[in-house]
Amino acid sequence: MRPGDLLRSSGPEVIAWAADYLERVGELPVLASVAPGDVAARLPACAPEEGEPFACVLRDLEEILMPGITHWQHPRYFAYFPSAACEPAVLAELLAAVLNSVALLWRTAPASTELEGVVAAWVADLLGLPAGWHGHIEDSASTATLAAAIAARGCTGRRVIVCSEQSHSSVAKAARMLDLELRVVECDDAFRMRVDGLRSAVSGAAMVVATVGTTACTAVDPVPEIAEACSAAGAWLHVDAAYAGAAMVCPEFRWAFAGVDRADSVVVNPHKWMLTPMDCSLLWSRRPEALRAAFSVVPEYLRTPDSEEALSLSEYGPALGRRFRSLKLWAVLRCLGRRGLQEHIRRSVALAEEFEGWVRADPAWEVVVERHFSLVVFRLRGDDDVNRKLLSACNEGGEVFLSHAVLGDRYCLRLAVGGLLTTLEDVRTAWRTLQRIGTELSQT
Ligand SMILES: Cc1ncc(COP(=O)(O)O)c(C=O)c1O
Repeated sequence: MRPGDLLRSSGPEVIAWAADYLERVGELPVLASVAPGDVAARLPACAPEEGEPFACVLRDLEEILMPGITHWQHPRYFAYFPSAACEPAVLAELLAAVLNSVALLWRTAPASTELEGVVAAWVADLLGLPAGWHGHIEDSASTATLAAAIAARGCTGRRVIVCSEQSHSSVAKAARMLDLELRVVECDDAFRMRVDGLRSAVSGAAMVVATVGTTACTAVDPVPEIAEACSAAGAWLHVDAAYAGAAMVCPEFRWAFAGVDRADSVVVNPHKWMLTPMDCSLLWSRRPEALRAAFSVVPEYLRTPDSEEALSLSEYGPALGRRFRSLKLWAVLRCLGRRGLQEHIRRSVALAEEFEGWVRADPAWEVVVERHFSLVVFRLRGDDDVNRKLLSACNEGGEVFLSHAVLGDRYCLRLAVGGLLTTLEDVRTAWRTLQRIGTELSQT
C-alpha cells in the first residue's frame, strides 16, 4: 500500500458513516443500553496477531461499540452540561490527526503553537476578556484549575485554596492532589459564594476559585467583591466559567463576567457549549510568568537555538507533548463566526426558556432556582424519592437523558440545552415524557 491508500479507499466510507450517524442519532436511545462489562466481554482479550482490514474496525464499531455509546450528539441529550461537536471541528480533528503535530516546544510545532495563541486571543475577544492575556489550551477545566492552583501556590508560597460549597469537584481534587488545605465557603440562597464568609476564609489563601455558572444550577458568584477580597489578601483569583463562559459571546450575558477582568486566571471550555469536540479547555492568565515559573523544566535534549525568543506552551502547563487542539477550535471560529456562535447560544437559551415556562405553568411542578443560561433546575412537587424515581424512569425510557443535582437538601432535576441538533420538538418531548411519568408516579 502507498501512503494515503487507506485514507483514499476507506475515508469516504468513514465520512459517510459519520454523516449518517448525525442523521440517525436522534432515533437511537440516548443512553447506552449496556451493563458494566458488557462491551469488554464482547472483545477479545488480546490484540490480533496479524493486522486486519479497516472494515473490521468499522464493523465492530457498529456491532459491539455502538450499543455502549451514550450519545452526546443526540438532540435529546439534556444531562450535565452539553458537549456538542460541529462538523467543521470534526473535519479539523481528522486533519490534526494526520498532521500529528506534537508541540513539545515551539520548534516541533510552530503553527500549532502560534495558532493556539491566536485562537485563545480570538476567543478572549469574543467573550469580552481583556486583550493581551496569555492564553493556551489544556485538555480539561480540571487540568486548567490544577495548573492555576500550582501557579498560585508557587507565587504566593501559601498552601490554602478557597472555594464555595457549589464549586466544581475539580477544585477539591486539585487541593487533594497538591496536598493543600481546602476552605469551603457557604453560599447564599441563590447558591452564590457568600462574600462575608469569604472575607474570613481568604486570609493566607494561595487561590480563591469563583464560579461563573456553577455545575448544579449555573449560579454566578459575585466576582467583583471576590476580586476585591483577593486583592486585599494577596490571593490569586481563578474564575471557573467552564460552561457559562461561552455565553459571553452574546452581550446580553456579559453581566455574568463583571469583575472577571480582575482575575489572575480564567477557564472556559469550548468543549462544553462552544461546539468544539472533546477535549478543549482554554486557560487565560494575566500572570503568565507565574505559570512559567511553575511549569518550565527544559532538559538539555529539548534545548534549541531559538529557545530564547520562541514560546513553548509546554512551559505553561503540566503536559510536555501537546496535540494540535487549536485546529478544531480555529475551524469552529472560522466556519461559524461570532454570529454563528451567538445563534447557537441564543437558540439553546430560548429552548431552555420555553421549557422553564411549561414547568412554571404546571402547578404539579416547580422551578427550583432562577435560570440564567440554558439550564433549568426543577422538580415535581413531592418528596425526593418521587423525583429520584422520576429521573430513573425517564432515562430508562431511552428517549431523553437528564441528570440531577441536590440543592439545599432537595433532590432536583436538571435539563441543560446545548445540542446542535436539539429542536423545540425535542424539548417538548422531554416535557411530555416527564409529565407522563410524573402523573403515573403521583397516582401510585
Ligand atoms: C463549572 C465546572 N467547572 C469545571 C468542570 C470540569 O470540566 P472538565 O470535565 O473539563 O474537567 C465542570 C464540568 O462540568 C463544570 O461544570
